[in-house]
Amino acid sequence: MNKLSIKLGTVFFLIIFGLETFMFFFLHSALVDSRVEEELTSLQARGNSHSSILEKQFNEDTISHVTLMESEANTDVVITNIAGPILDSSVPSKDIIEYLEKSVSDIPREGQIVEDNWKEESFISTVSPIEINGQTMGFVYMFQNTESIHSLIERLNDHFLLTGFIAISLTFIIIIILSKALVNPLIKMKEATFKISKGDFSVSLPKTGKDELGDLAESIQLLADDLNYLKQERNDFLASISHELRTPLTYIKGYTDIVHRRNLSIEDRDKYLTIILEETHRLSDLIKDLFDLAKIDKNSFVIQKKLIDLTDFVFKIEQKFTPAFLEKNMSLVVECPNNLYLTADPSRLEQIIFNLLDNAIKYSAPGDKTTLTVSSKKHDVHIRIADNGKGIPAEDIPYIFNRFYRVEKSRSRALGGTGMGLAIVRELVLAHGGTITVHSEEKKGTEFEIIFKGAEKR
Ligand SMILES: Nc1ncnc2c1ncn2[C@@H]1O[C@H](COP(=O)(O)OP(=O)(O)OP(=O)(O)O)[C@@H](O)[C@H]1O
Ligand SMILES: [Mg+2]
Repeated sequence: MNKLSIKLGTVFFLIIFGLETFMFFFLHSALVDSRVEEELTSLQARGNSHSSILEKQFNEDTISHVTLMESEANTDVVITNIAGPILDSSVPSKDIIEYLEKSVSDIPREGQIVEDNWKEESFISTVSPIEINGQTMGFVYMFQNTESIHSLIERLNDHFLLTGFIAISLTFIIIIILSKALVNPLIKMKEATFKISKGDFSVSLPKTGKDELGDLAESIQLLADDLNYLKQERNDFLASISHELRTPLTYIKGYTDIVHRRNLSIEDRDKYLTIILEETHRLSDLIKDLFDLAKIDKNSFVIQKKLIDLTDFVFKIEQKFTPAFLEKNMSLVVECPNNLYLTADPSRLEQIIFNLLDNAIKYSAPGDKTTLTVSSKKHDVHIRIADNGKGIPAEDIPYIFNRFYRVEKSRSRALGGTGMGLAIVRELVLAHGGTITVHSEEKKGTEFEIIFKGAEKR
């Protein structure tokens, strides 16, 4: 048995036990008292009715008639005259004489109780006066054996014992049910959280139902699954980082070794130094990207929003990028309405568009065309960057925003890609409260659409 169920069980047991004891004493004494009271009242009423008969005819006949009646009942009568001597009685035994001596002098008209100590005495008794013309002629004593009361109490005790036994058995059954239904799931959850705290996220909690316990179990399961996913992602991420860092470092090391050899022509030397320089750039770009992402993750990333004149902004981008497109025999077409403004961080917005245009160049062929279209719908700014390049296979689309994800690892690397561009783009768009979607078809082209809230027309 586990601790919580013992606690619950004890509390439950004490409550039931307390209730039972209280009921026993309260109900028991109330029942007995009212029963004794009832007996005394009816005894006294019977005595009164005898005395009123005797008041009508106080003679031997009537007296023997009354005693005869009582000899058949389970009560007894003793009739005395005013001086005390017994005139007649329905009891042969003389045990009851002592009660007669207890009788009080001023007995009210409606009679009174002589003995009500049912616990110790063998009789309870009442007395009623016989008054004729305002003068007391004698007394009618009524007696009842206390055996019937004692047997009632015995029966009551038996009942209480039985209910007590049933209540205690029920308590035990309830404790067992409680510990199954309530405590066992809790223990499972405790074990699960302990496992999680030790770094083992492979927990599986059974579904217990739609109550609070079920909700708690579901939350713990969700937490474990999320942590498991994060752990997996972190491991993948670290593996990718070390791989990405190792590749350029291998190049740098290899070519530096070669350059060290003395018998190299000037051209070869320059060629190798250029490669070393390129790889160094790649390394520093990668580290910058990682740093950017780490800052976004830590929320220590500051977005300095300004009102941007999009026409002007897009024109500058076009100027910056056209040479890169022309160099590869590609074209860039830019469309933006006049007087459209957006509140955003200009350098971050540029970084977003830069990464997307960079991809358009990298994954298109000479002769292909890329369009950058800015438009506004209601209060939103839509920025679309569409190319008719090689497109992205449908099965890769869900992953392209993941860190280090590249469709063709080797080709992308040859183009200088590390798979960080879109991950950064997405984080930056989200940090601005915007959304980014992609539509792509292999060999037809790719279109990214970014929607920012807060378009302003002036
Ligand atoms: N316009 C596009 N056309 C075709 N494929 C694309 C396009 N944009 C992205 N992709 C695919 O998505 C992958 C991820 O893009 P992402 O910009 O994140 O990485 P990258 O361009 O390879 O490297 P980086 O941007 O870090 O230099 C790319 O490797 C490429 O396969
Ligand atoms: Mg890219």
